[in-house]
Parts: sequence; C-alpha cells; structure tokens
Amino acid sequence: MSSAAVSSYHPVYQAAKENPEKFWGQVAEAVHWTRRWDRVLDDSDAPFYRWFTGGELNTCYNALDLHVDQGRGDQAALVYDSAVTDTRRSYSFSELRDTVALFAGVLAERGVAKGDRVIIYMPMVPEAAIAMLACARIGAVHSVVFGGFAANELAVRIDDATPKAIISASCGIEPGRVVAYKPLLDEAISLATHQPDFCVLLQRPQVEASLQAGRDVDWDEALAGASAQDCVPVLATDPLYILYTSGTTGEPKGVVRDNGGHAVALKWTMENIYGVQPGEAFWAASDVGWVVGHSYIVYAPLLAGNTTILYEGKPVGTPDPGAFWRVISENDVRVLFTAPTAFRAIKKEDPTGEHIRRYDLSSLRYLFLAGERTDPDTLHWAEDKLGIPVIDHWWQTETGWSIAANCAGLGLLPIKEGSPSVAVPGWDLQVLDDNGRQAPAGEIGTLAAKLPLPPGTFPTLWNARQRHFDSYLKQFEGYYNTSDAGIIDSDDYVFVMSRTDDIINVAGHRLSTGAMEEVLADHPAVAECAVTGVADDLKGQVPMGFLVLSAGCEQADDEIVAEAVAMVRDRIGPVAAFKQALVVKRLPKTRSGKILRGTMRSIADGTPWKMPATIDDPVILDEIAQALSTIGYPR
Ligand code: COA
Ligand code: AMP
Repeated sequence: MSSAAVSSYHPVYQAAKENPEKFWGQVAEAVHWTRRWDRVLDDSDAPFYRWFTGGELNTCYNALDLHVDQGRGDQAALVYDSAVTDTRRSYSFSELRDTVALFAGVLAERGVAKGDRVIIYMPMVPEAAIAMLACARIGAVHSVVFGGFAANELAVRIDDATPKAIISASCGIEPGRVVAYKPLLDEAISLATHQPDFCVLLQRPQVEASLQAGRDVDWDEALAGASAQDCVPVLATDPLYILYTSGTTGEPKGVVRDNGGHAVALKWTMENIYGVQPGEAFWAASDVGWVVGHSYIVYAPLLAGNTTILYEGKPVGTPDPGAFWRVISENDVRVLFTAPTAFRAIKKEDPTGEHIRRYDLSSLRYLFLAGERTDPDTLHWAEDKLGIPVIDHWWQTETGWSIAANCAGLGLLPIKEGSPSVAVPGWDLQVLDDNGRQAPAGEIGTLAAKLPLPPGTFPTLWNARQRHFDSYLKQFEGYYNTSDAGIIDSDDYVFVMSRTDDIINVAGHRLSTGAMEEVLADHPAVAECAVTGVADDLKGQVPMGFLVLSAGCEQADDEIVAEAVAMVRDRIGPVAAFKQALVVKRLPKTRSGKILRGTMRSIADGTPWKMPATIDDPVILDEIAQALSTIGYPR
C-alpha cells in the first residue's frame, strides 16, 4: 500500500450516500436542460428506479452545441488516429456539431424519428461516433454492434432492436487482413426476420461495397444532399441507446441507457474520477462497440468538453509497441484508459520499455485500467515504466461507469494491488452470502449494490423487464446482483475475484460460454459439451471447449475439433477467440447433473481445487486432466 495526499473522497462519498437526491440534483445543474426535472429520484416503480423524471434535454446538444455556444467551438473535440491506415484527422467542436447535424438530417429525411432504433455496425472510424451522436440529436435510439461479431449475432440484434436503419461501412481493418463488412451485413439482414427500411454505407478506400438499389445509400452522397437537423428535446428517462452484452445464454441482453441520468453521471466522472479538466485530452483505447467506447470514447469526454481520441489500431504491431506512446505524445493526452491485456501485449514485446523512452509522455497524469482485474505484474510494470499512478477500476456494461475506483479527481487514496479500490460516490456496495446476509470484512461472497443504483446505470433491459428482474434484482431483495464474487476489506477496499455465472473475459471482452456451448451442441457429432475459460498470459482468459461425441461417431476427433472451432467463429465471430477444444469421454457432473466447469478450469490452470462433495464420478476428473495434458495444460 503506497501513501497518498489528502483526499476529499470520504466526505463526497458520505454526501452521496446520505442524501442521493440532493447530491445528484446538484451535480445535474452542470447539464443543460430544456425542462427541469420534477423529481430527482423517482421510486414509484421500485425496484425499478428512474432519475430526473419530467426533465427534458438533448444529449447531443450537451456533448457538442453547448460547448460551441460557450466558446469552445475551435477546440478539438475528436481526434481520429488510424494506425492501420496511417491517417490522422481532427474535428473541432463546431465541425463535429455541423457534421453530426447533417447526418441527423440524413436519418430524419428518411423517416427516422424520436424513439426509432438505428443499428450501427462500424469499425473504429469517426463516422461511428458521428452516427451515434446524430441519433442522439433526433432522439433515435442507437445500438452499436461490435465489428468482431459475426452475421448471426448481428441478425439476433436486428430482430431484437427492430431498427429502421442500419449504418455500416465497407470494411474494418485488422492487422494483416481487411474485414469486408457488407457481406456480413447482407447475410445478417437475410437471416433476420425484421427488415430495416434503409442502410447507409461508408465506402472506405480499401474495399468498395456493392449497394443494393432501393435499400442502401452511400454515406458521402447522402451527407452531401442533407440539411442540418436541430436537437430534439427528449425526456430524461427516454432511451439514448441499447447495448447488447453477453448473458448466460446465447440470447444477449439489451442494456438500455437513458438520456438524463447518463449525461449527469458521465459528465461528473470526468473531473471527479479521472481528474481531467475541460479542454484536456482523454483517451480510452477501446472500441465504440463496447461500453467503454460508448461512455469514454464518445459521451463522457464530449459532455465534459474534453478532446477525445478515437484510435483505430492495436497496442502492438501497428506498427510496434510504441503506438500508444506516439498517440499520447502527439495529442498531449492527460489520461489513458485501456484494458490490462493491452499492457500485457506491450510488455511482452517491449519488456524494458525501450519504446516508451522514444516519446515525451510528460502530459500523461494517470493510467486507468478496466475490463478485467489488473494483475500485480502488469500494475508494477506500468507504474515502473510510466512513473504515474496506475488505477484499476471495476465496472460493467450494465452500470455504464465505474462501481469501484480510486477517484483521482477527488485526490487519490493509497493504491492496493489487486483491488479497484473503493466504492465510487453513489454506490453502496456490500458482500452478501447466499442467504443475502452481509458477510464480515474480508470474507468472500457476491458483490451487490444496494438499490437505487446511481444515475447513468441501466434502468432496464430492452423489451425484457422480467429478465431484468430475474437476472439482477430477484436473488437479493433491494440489491443489484453484480454477478461478480469478491471481498471488501476492513479499509473498504473491494477485491473482485470472479464471475458467479458462466461469463468469461477474453482480452477485456465479455463473452458467454453458454452461447458457445449452444453453437457446439449444433455439431452433428457432438452429444454433449461444455466451455470454460482457461488462464492465458496475454488475454487473461481464453475459452476451451470439451466435446463428448455421439455413440458410433466415426469422424476423426481433430476434424470435429476443427469444425467446432470454425462454427464458433462463423456464428459468434472472431472476437470469441475460440481456438481450442478437446474430445473427452464424459463430462464431470454433480449428482444433480450440473457440469463442473469451475473444476475443469482449475485443472486446466493448475490451480488448487477441492473434490466437489456432490460429484457423480471422480474418475472423470482424471480423464479430463489426462486429455488436457495432451495439449500442454496446465501450462
Ligand atoms: N472487427 C473484426 N474482427 C475483429 C475486430 C473487429 N472490430 N476486433 C477484433 N477482431 C478479431 C481479431 O482480428 C482476432 O482475429 P484472429 O482470431 O483472426 O486473430 C479476434 O477478433 C480476436 O481479437 P482480440 O481478442 O482482440 O485479439 P487480438 O489478437 O486481435 O489482439 C490485444 C489482442 C490484446 C492486442 C487486443 O485484444 C487489444 O488491443 N485489447 C485492448 C483492450 C480492449 O480493447 N478492451 C476492450 C474493453 S476496454
Ligand atoms: P463488461 O460488461 O464487458 O464491461 O464486463 C464486466 C465484467 O468484467 C465485470 O462483471 C467483471 O467480471 C469484469 N471486470 C471489469 N472490470 C474489472 C476490474 N477492474 N477488476 C475485475 N474484474 C473486472
């Protein structure tokens, strides 16, 4: 534990806990409202709470126009840095507002109005952020789908969100390969039952997409013929976006974000959690397809008047492990936010930090990490090489911003390795045992947050209120179940240990093992299967499949494994990083038939495990260990 200067964290935390309405009501004054709220916190439909009911605002106005009106028009709002195409482009707040207003015109003139959904399936180009903000401008609800998902996943989202329009691009660029998006989009539309009225396609020079007459329009042509649209006021409680995230089954959860609470909370986080002032550059090295991208590439930095960096590239290989340092030095980045896996990749290729010394990084104040636990090796390497505080913070797609963090803007508390520090103001976090009783300090249990959650968190799941209740609110009455297990120590520091469900974290990406099992079960030779996440030096975890074949199957094992791997890539997408599977005789189960995925994971990782008391046949675990040893596990 290292020392820290005086922090105002504790009084601010207490103020938010003792009187949330007063606290968030005051914070909300920083947002521009076209109609003031009637109630800060509306508990009339508890346990579903709403923030700022009756209030009206426009999120795009707050992110762009407000800054132009307040004299920041010439400041860089968004810097696009593409390491894969060697392109840099900066948009001032005025330019970004004008382009967004025109693209809002493209949508509105084709019939997209308040409340309509628009799917955005795009690579990391500024047009992705422009499309998001254009939706916000006219009150349409965007749903961004990550480019690494396959056509089938896109089709599932099209059917759930029923969009009027889909915005896409001709291609994305991954190191060593160009990913043509249009064939994936066409396939998804043909798989889906719901059909969009139109699609807008951004043609990139690397691949030209063929456009379907009557349905597809070219981005540039449409923009050239559009008239600028003004901001449409929406209710604070109206949805701003839907972001699908992995659940325990193949059916993703549509996390809904509202307009009012989101603008209030996210704007507050920039100064108070990240310690950046308006006008300074902030960089979240993530993707707009993830929640980090929504909150910290697009909305929060713009709401707070910061310059945001939209980076198309990887931490290594584009072209070298100095890519991050180049971007920081060229843009005077004050805070970098990324996933620990990116640092593990850099550290692996540049262990001595030679590339770090090539650049002037004096602008950089803090490194924030999230998406998975920051392992001590990565923490110390980054602290050592950068010489700045490295701050682990914990959050989820559902929460939209961090649950636990060391709030740099309030004055750092001491950093404890392995911990994302303490509950952020607005969060009342507790560790509960299976009966919902509070566990003593230092004891493991489920991390749960007392309701109501602060503004900016999800008010509901799209078209799935009951699933919202069943998944998050039912088990512990009056609490949000985070589905993360952990402990809180006697200094109130939180330690997040593992998921309590079947979700795994691969390179900071959240994936459902259940969804992969559903795909594998469709292989004609597979009678039964299980997927678990096994430890990986670079990605934290990677999925591993266990396949039990149907009796009498004559196909060769390695052929089945290769087909199974291809099926997951084809149906879920390359992002699943599903590359390993093993054919086994049987799966270990409890006497009630529950597959012991956790025990299989421990065997693969070589970590200590206890023989489950309820195991059906312990010999099966020896068979699993034997099968794993044939492919070099534990490593
Ligand atoms: N479109 C199409 N394919 C994509 C894609 C996209 N937007 N993003 C990733 N993929 C593909 C990759 O090319 C890779 O394909 P491959 O199996 O053919 O190699 C696959 O999906 C897996 O991607 P990923 O797990 O990201 O691995 P990687 O080897 O490409 O990169 C890291 C590894 C660590 C460098 C990378 O994950 C990274 O930069 N992570 C940063 C953290 C981050 O973005 N976290 C998000 C939450 S904060
Ligand atoms: P996502 O919804 O993709 O942001 O993934 C959320 C999950 O990632 C959480 O429930 C955690 O399991 C994990 N996670 C995110 N940040 C951290 C962190 N700082 N420490 C430990 N786990 C984390």
